[in-house]
Amino acid sequence: MALDKVPRRVGVVGYGRLGQSLVSHLLTQGPQLGLELVFVWNRDPGRMAGTVPASLQLQDLAALGERHPDLVVEVAHPKIIHDSGAHILHHANLLVGSPSALADQATEQQLREASHRWGHAVFVARGALWGSEDITRLDAAGGLQSLRVTMATHPDGFRLEGALATVPLLGPRTVLYEGPVRGLCPMAPRNSNTMAAAALAAPSLGFDRVVGVLVADLSLSDMHVVDVELSGPPGPTGRSFAVHTHRENPAEPGAVTGSATVTAFWRSLLGCCQLPKKPGIYLC
Ligand SMILES: NC(=O)c1ccc[n+]([C@@H]2O[C@H](COP(=O)([O-])OP(=O)(O)OC[C@H]3O[C@@H](n4cnc5c(N)ncnc54)[C@H](O)[C@@H]3O)[C@@H](O)[C@H]2O)c1
Repeated sequence: MALDKVPRRVGVVGYGRLGQSLVSHLLTQGPQLGLELVFVWNRDPGRMAGTVPASLQLQDLAALGERHPDLVVEVAHPKIIHDSGAHILHHANLLVGSPSALADQATEQQLREASHRWGHAVFVARGALWGSEDITRLDAAGGLQSLRVTMATHPDGFRLEGALATVPLLGPRTVLYEGPVRGLCPMAPRNSNTMAAAALAAPSLGFDRVVGVLVADLSLSDMHVVDVELSGPPGPTGRSFAVHTHRENPAEPGAVTGSATVTAFWRSLLGCCQLPKKPGIYLC
Protein backbone atom coordinates (compact mmCIF):
# COMPACT_ATOMS: atom_id res chain seq x y z
CA MET A 1 0.00 0.00 0.00
CA ALA A 2 1.33 3.43 -0.92
CA LEU A 3 2.44 5.63 1.96
CA ASP A 4 0.91 8.70 0.36
CA LYS A 5 -0.79 9.73 -2.86
CA VAL A 6 2.08 12.02 -3.85
CA PRO A 7 5.35 10.12 -4.33
CA ARG A 8 7.94 11.11 -1.78
CA ARG A 9 11.26 11.97 -3.32
CA VAL A 10 14.11 10.31 -1.43
CA GLY A 11 17.86 10.90 -1.72
CA VAL A 12 20.46 8.57 -0.21
CA VAL A 13 23.84 9.80 1.03
CA GLY A 14 26.34 6.94 1.41
CA TYR A 15 26.53 3.76 -0.61
CA GLY A 16 28.03 1.20 1.74
CA ARG A 17 26.24 -1.72 3.34
CA LEU A 18 23.20 0.28 4.49
CA GLY A 19 23.08 2.59 1.46
CA GLN A 20 23.17 -0.28 -1.02
CA SER A 21 20.38 -2.08 0.81
CA LEU A 22 18.17 1.04 1.00
CA VAL A 23 18.78 1.92 -2.67
CA SER A 24 17.91 -1.62 -3.72
CA HIS A 25 14.69 -1.51 -1.65
CA LEU A 26 13.81 1.92 -3.07
CA LEU A 27 14.37 0.83 -6.67
CA THR A 28 12.39 -2.40 -6.35
CA GLN A 29 9.66 -1.58 -3.81
CA GLY A 30 9.66 2.23 -3.82
CA PRO A 31 7.23 2.83 -6.71
CA GLN A 32 4.43 0.75 -5.18
CA LEU A 33 5.03 2.40 -1.80
CA GLY A 34 4.91 5.92 -3.23
CA LEU A 35 8.66 6.47 -2.83
CA GLU A 36 10.84 7.75 -5.65
CA LEU A 37 14.63 7.55 -5.46
CA VAL A 38 15.91 10.88 -6.80
CA PHE A 39 19.65 10.65 -6.09
CA VAL A 40 22.46 8.63 -4.55
CA TRP A 41 25.67 10.31 -3.44
CA ASN A 42 28.81 8.50 -2.39
CA ARG A 43 32.25 9.84 -1.50
CA ASP A 44 33.70 7.43 -4.05
CA PRO A 45 31.33 7.69 -7.06
CA GLY A 46 32.99 4.68 -8.72
CA ARG A 47 31.31 2.43 -6.18
CA MET A 48 27.89 3.24 -7.68
CA ALA A 49 28.88 2.23 -11.24
CA GLY A 50 26.84 -0.63 -12.61
CA THR A 51 24.22 -0.68 -9.86
CA VAL A 52 22.90 2.90 -9.58
CA PRO A 53 21.44 4.31 -12.83
CA ALA A 54 23.69 7.13 -14.05
CA SER A 55 20.81 9.65 -13.94
CA LEU A 56 20.45 9.01 -10.19
CA GLN A 57 24.13 9.44 -9.33
CA LEU A 58 24.72 12.82 -7.70
CA GLN A 59 28.25 14.09 -8.21
CA ASP A 60 28.16 17.09 -5.88
CA LEU A 61 26.36 16.86 -2.54
CA ALA A 62 26.08 20.66 -2.42
CA ALA A 63 23.79 20.45 -5.48
CA LEU A 64 21.24 18.11 -3.87
CA GLY A 65 18.55 20.83 -3.95
CA GLU A 66 18.36 20.43 -7.76
CA ARG A 67 16.80 16.99 -7.22
CA HIS A 68 14.04 18.47 -4.97
CA PRO A 69 14.12 15.70 -2.34
CA ASP A 70 11.49 15.47 0.40
CA LEU A 71 13.73 13.25 2.50
CA VAL A 72 17.50 12.72 2.52
CA VAL A 73 18.78 9.59 4.24
CA GLU A 74 22.33 9.76 5.60
CA VAL A 75 24.02 6.36 5.82
CA ALA A 76 27.67 7.36 5.41
CA HIS A 77 29.55 8.77 8.38
CA PRO A 78 28.87 11.25 11.23
CA LYS A 79 31.16 13.69 9.40
CA ILE A 80 28.45 14.16 6.77
CA ILE A 81 26.04 15.29 9.52
CA HIS A 82 28.66 17.64 11.01
CA ASP A 83 29.53 19.17 7.63
CA SER A 84 26.31 18.99 5.61
CA GLY A 85 23.41 18.27 7.99
CA ALA A 86 22.24 21.90 8.13
CA HIS A 87 22.59 22.27 4.34
CA ILE A 88 20.46 19.14 3.81
CA LEU A 89 17.78 20.55 6.14
CA HIS A 90 17.60 23.66 4.00
CA HIS A 91 16.18 21.46 1.23
CA ALA A 92 14.58 18.43 2.86
CA ASN A 93 13.75 16.41 5.93
CA LEU A 94 16.76 14.44 7.13
CA LEU A 95 16.98 10.85 8.36
CA VAL A 96 20.22 10.56 10.34
CA GLY A 97 21.82 7.11 10.19
CA SER A 98 24.92 8.16 12.15
CA PRO A 99 23.46 9.74 15.32
CA SER A 100 26.83 9.69 17.09
CA ALA A 101 27.28 13.01 15.25
CA LEU A 102 24.78 14.59 17.67
CA ALA A 103 27.12 14.06 20.61
CA ASP A 104 28.80 17.20 19.34
CA GLN A 105 26.76 20.00 20.94
CA ALA A 106 27.50 22.47 18.14
CA THR A 107 26.21 19.99 15.55
CA GLU A 108 23.05 19.27 17.54
CA GLN A 109 22.44 23.01 17.90
CA GLN A 110 23.03 23.62 14.16
CA LEU A 111 20.57 20.87 13.25
CA ARG A 112 17.91 22.19 15.64
CA GLU A 113 18.30 25.73 14.29
CA ALA A 114 18.22 24.63 10.64
CA SER A 115 15.24 22.39 11.33
CA HIS A 116 13.24 25.31 12.75
CA ARG A 117 14.49 27.79 10.17
CA TRP A 118 13.53 25.68 7.16
CA GLY A 119 10.60 23.77 8.69
CA HIS A 120 12.10 20.35 8.14
CA ALA A 121 12.30 17.45 10.59
CA VAL A 122 15.39 15.61 11.78
CA PHE A 123 14.62 11.91 12.10
CA VAL A 124 17.09 9.62 13.83
CA ALA A 125 17.13 5.93 12.96
CA ARG A 126 16.91 3.82 16.12
CA GLY A 127 19.17 1.28 14.40
CA ALA A 128 20.17 -1.45 16.81
CA LEU A 129 18.44 0.12 19.85
CA TRP A 130 15.74 -2.24 21.07
CA GLY A 131 12.83 -0.76 23.02
CA SER A 132 13.47 2.88 22.12
CA GLU A 133 9.80 3.83 22.40
CA ASP A 134 9.53 2.31 25.87
CA ILE A 135 12.62 4.22 26.97
CA THR A 136 11.16 7.47 25.64
CA ARG A 137 7.84 6.85 27.36
CA LEU A 138 9.46 6.10 30.72
CA ASP A 139 11.68 9.16 30.34
CA ALA A 140 8.75 11.42 29.45
CA ALA A 141 6.88 10.17 32.51
CA GLY A 142 9.81 11.21 34.68
CA GLY A 143 10.60 7.63 35.73
CA LEU A 144 13.94 6.95 34.12
CA GLN A 145 16.73 6.89 36.70
CA SER A 146 19.59 5.31 34.77
CA LEU A 147 20.31 3.93 31.32
CA ARG A 148 23.33 1.91 30.30
CA VAL A 149 24.03 0.54 26.81
CA THR A 150 26.76 -2.05 26.28
CA MET A 151 27.91 -2.92 22.78
CA ALA A 152 30.20 -5.92 22.39
CA THR A 153 31.74 -7.38 19.26
CA HIS A 154 35.01 -8.67 17.83
CA PRO A 155 37.66 -5.91 17.63
CA ASP A 156 37.68 -6.26 13.80
CA GLY A 157 34.18 -4.71 13.85
CA PHE A 158 35.47 -1.54 15.51
CA ARG A 159 36.63 1.62 13.76
CA LEU A 160 38.28 3.44 16.67
CA GLU A 161 39.96 6.81 16.80
CA GLY A 162 42.09 8.79 19.25
CA ALA A 163 43.02 7.21 22.59
CA LEU A 164 40.70 4.22 22.06
CA ALA A 165 42.54 3.10 18.93
CA THR A 166 45.61 2.20 20.98
CA VAL A 167 43.99 0.52 24.00
CA PRO A 168 45.72 -2.90 24.36
CA LEU A 169 43.51 -5.99 24.30
CA LEU A 170 44.56 -7.80 27.46
CA GLY A 171 42.40 -10.91 27.21
CA PRO A 172 39.46 -12.52 25.45
CA ARG A 173 37.14 -9.73 26.65
CA THR A 174 38.33 -6.14 27.16
CA VAL A 175 36.23 -3.17 28.27
CA LEU A 176 37.54 -0.37 26.04
CA TYR A 177 35.34 2.40 27.42
CA GLU A 178 32.79 2.88 30.17
CA GLY A 179 31.36 6.32 30.80
CA PRO A 180 29.17 9.07 29.35
CA VAL A 181 28.11 8.43 25.74
CA ARG A 182 29.22 11.94 24.84
CA GLY A 183 32.85 11.04 25.53
CA LEU A 184 32.72 7.81 23.53
CA CYS A 185 31.17 9.09 20.28
CA PRO A 186 34.20 11.04 18.96
CA MET A 187 36.49 8.05 19.59
CA ALA A 188 34.15 5.39 18.21
CA PRO A 189 31.94 7.36 15.80
CA ARG A 190 30.85 4.27 13.89
CA ASN A 191 30.33 1.99 16.89
CA SER A 192 28.46 4.31 19.26
CA ASN A 193 25.31 4.96 17.21
CA THR A 194 23.12 2.69 19.33
CA MET A 195 24.24 4.52 22.47
CA ALA A 196 23.68 7.88 20.79
CA ALA A 197 20.16 6.80 19.82
CA ALA A 198 19.60 5.87 23.49
CA ALA A 199 20.78 9.32 24.60
CA LEU A 200 18.29 10.91 22.19
CA ALA A 201 15.52 8.54 23.33
CA ALA A 202 16.08 9.67 26.94
CA PRO A 203 16.53 13.45 26.83
CA SER A 204 16.35 13.79 30.64
CA LEU A 205 19.65 11.87 30.83
CA GLY A 206 21.01 12.73 27.38
CA PHE A 207 24.56 12.23 26.13
CA ASP A 208 26.09 13.18 29.50
CA ARG A 209 24.17 10.78 31.74
CA VAL A 210 23.45 7.77 29.53
CA VAL A 211 26.36 5.38 30.13
CA GLY A 212 27.99 3.69 27.15
CA VAL A 213 30.19 0.60 27.43
CA LEU A 214 32.26 -0.66 24.51
CA VAL A 215 33.61 -4.19 24.77
CA ALA A 216 36.06 -6.00 22.50
CA ASP A 217 35.21 -9.70 22.66
CA LEU A 218 37.29 -12.14 20.63
CA SER A 219 34.53 -14.77 20.75
CA LEU A 220 32.06 -12.51 18.87
CA SER A 221 33.57 -12.75 15.37
CA ASP A 222 30.17 -12.85 13.64
CA MET A 223 27.87 -11.11 16.08
CA HIS A 224 27.06 -7.69 17.53
CA VAL A 225 25.65 -7.88 21.05
CA VAL A 226 23.80 -4.94 22.57
CA ASP A 227 22.61 -4.93 26.19
CA VAL A 228 20.30 -2.18 27.38
CA GLU A 229 19.86 -1.88 31.15
CA LEU A 230 17.65 0.72 32.74
CA SER A 231 16.20 1.45 36.12
CA GLY A 232 13.19 3.38 37.30
CA PRO A 233 12.15 4.72 40.68
CA PRO A 234 11.74 2.46 43.73
CA GLY A 235 8.31 0.89 44.25
CA PRO A 236 6.40 0.53 47.52
CA THR A 237 8.66 -2.29 48.73
CA GLY A 238 11.82 -0.32 47.97
CA ARG A 239 12.78 -2.39 44.92
CA SER A 240 13.42 -0.40 41.74
CA PHE A 241 11.75 -0.94 38.40
CA ALA A 242 14.35 -2.52 36.07
CA VAL A 243 14.59 -3.69 32.45
CA HIS A 244 17.43 -5.56 30.76
CA THR A 245 17.32 -6.44 27.05
CA HIS A 246 20.01 -8.51 25.34
CA ARG A 247 20.17 -8.35 21.53
CA GLU A 248 22.35 -10.76 19.55
CA ASN A 249 22.62 -9.68 15.95
CA PRO A 250 24.48 -11.89 13.43
CA ALA A 251 26.98 -9.86 11.41
CA GLU A 252 29.52 -10.52 8.70
CA PRO A 253 33.04 -10.67 10.20
CA GLY A 254 34.47 -7.14 10.37
CA ALA A 255 31.18 -5.37 9.45
CA VAL A 256 30.08 -2.31 11.48
CA THR A 257 26.40 -3.08 10.79
CA GLY A 258 24.66 -6.33 11.75
CA SER A 259 22.06 -8.00 9.49
CA ALA A 260 18.96 -7.19 11.54
CA THR A 261 20.00 -3.53 11.68
CA VAL A 262 19.84 -3.30 7.88
CA THR A 263 16.17 -4.32 8.06
CA ALA A 264 15.58 -1.88 10.93
CA PHE A 265 16.85 0.99 8.75
CA TRP A 266 14.36 0.24 5.96
CA ARG A 267 11.56 0.21 8.55
CA SER A 268 12.85 3.56 9.89
CA LEU A 269 12.75 5.02 6.38
CA LEU A 270 9.17 3.85 5.88
CA GLY A 271 8.25 5.00 9.38
CA CYS A 272 9.57 8.53 9.07
CA CYS A 273 7.72 8.97 5.75
CA GLN A 274 4.49 8.51 7.72
CA LEU A 275 5.32 10.89 10.57
CA PRO A 276 4.35 14.56 10.52
CA LYS A 277 7.18 16.75 9.26
CA LYS A 278 7.54 19.11 12.22
CA PRO A 279 10.76 20.91 13.18
CA GLY A 280 12.69 19.05 15.88
CA ILE A 281 14.53 15.77 16.41
CA TYR A 282 12.55 12.50 16.42
CA LEU A 283 13.61 8.88 16.80
CA CYS A 284 12.03 6.61 14.21
N1 LIG B 1 22.11 3.89 14.15
C1 LIG B 1 22.69 2.70 14.23
O1 LIG B 1 22.40 1.90 15.12
C2 LIG B 1 23.67 2.31 13.18
C3 LIG B 1 23.90 0.97 12.92
C4 LIG B 1 24.77 0.63 11.92
C5 LIG B 1 25.46 1.62 11.20
N2 LIG B 1 25.24 2.92 11.49
C6 LIG B 1 25.99 3.98 10.80
O2 LIG B 1 25.49 4.16 9.49
C7 LIG B 1 26.56 4.56 8.63
C8 LIG B 1 26.65 3.62 7.44
O3 LIG B 1 26.88 2.29 7.88
P1 LIG B 1 27.29 1.12 6.84
O4 LIG B 1 27.22 -0.16 7.55
O5 LIG B 1 26.54 1.31 5.56
O6 LIG B 1 28.84 1.50 6.61
P2 LIG B 1 29.76 1.15 5.35
O7 LIG B 1 31.16 1.27 5.83
O8 LIG B 1 29.35 -0.13 4.71
O9 LIG B 1 29.46 2.32 4.31
C9 LIG B 1 29.74 3.67 4.59
C10 LIG B 1 29.69 4.49 3.31
O10 LIG B 1 29.94 5.85 3.63
C11 LIG B 1 31.13 6.29 2.98
N3 LIG B 1 31.94 7.09 3.92
C12 LIG B 1 32.72 6.66 4.91
N4 LIG B 1 33.31 7.68 5.53
C13 LIG B 1 32.90 8.80 4.91
C14 LIG B 1 33.16 10.17 5.09
N5 LIG B 1 33.98 10.60 6.07
N6 LIG B 1 32.56 11.05 4.27
C15 LIG B 1 31.72 10.60 3.31
N7 LIG B 1 31.43 9.32 3.08
C16 LIG B 1 32.03 8.42 3.88
C17 LIG B 1 31.88 5.07 2.52
O11 LIG B 1 32.56 5.37 1.34
C18 LIG B 1 30.72 4.08 2.29
O12 LIG B 1 30.17 4.24 1.00
C19 LIG B 1 27.83 4.56 9.50
O13 LIG B 1 28.07 5.86 10.00
C20 LIG B 1 27.45 3.64 10.62
O14 LIG B 1 28.18 3.91 11.79
C21 LIG B 1 24.35 3.28 12.46
